[in-house]
Amino acid sequence: MKLSRGFVVWLTGLSGSGKSTLAEALARELRAARACGGKIEILDGDLIRTHLSRGLGFSREDRDLNVARIAFVAHLLARNGVAVLVSAISPYKATREAARGTIGDFVEVHVAPPLEECIRRDTKGLYKKALAGEIPLFTGISDPYEPPDAAEVTLDTSALDLRASVERITAKLTELGYLDDGEIPSSVQDSV
Ligand code: ADX
Repeated sequence: MKLSRGFVVWLTGLSGSGKSTLAEALARELRAARACGGKIEILDGDLIRTHLSRGLGFSREDRDLNVARIAFVAHLLARNGVAVLVSAISPYKATREAARGTIGDFVEVHVAPPLEECIRRDTKGLYKKALAGEIPLFTGISDPYEPPDAAEVTLDTSALDLRASVERITAKLTELGYLDDGEIPSSVQDSV
């Protein structure tokens, strides 16, 4: 029988670090493996900011409120047996630790390519603007990012491909008892 304990994989890191891409790939993998009976939800900072956190900006206060809201919803879902994948910059250590405390079943993944790599990718064109001084309070440029001291998983996505990154996370979930050993079929791994 599959384990059905809910949990939260909390992906933290700079804008453009690869959090959303990883969350989507991990969700595909977990869904195919019927983890948590197939109940998987992604809470993505960008999307949450268009609904639950619409109107919030990027001051510390607003970011903390955004992250606390995400943590609250993630907790509700996880305690009902859902595998929740959060992807949010969540730059402040204390706020992430508060989320860990609220949620309990919390697996922190630091998505950590070098800042230079995020700037080089600049998928949304925001770094260019931030470096030109057009976006105040931009994480990593003109606003802080406090890296975790003891994330369960740290991934330099400039050195690891997507499949390897997903495998690191599923290995940790297995180690922590959230996934059965044989839960990830290799045919699925091949398709990540
Ligand atoms: S958080 O700090 O509150 O956790 P969140 O992950 O929800 O941030 O949103 C970050 C996204 O908002 C970025 O990926 C980017 O698309 C956009 N964004 C717009 N302005 C900023 C800014 N000043 N700093 C960081 N991200 C910003």
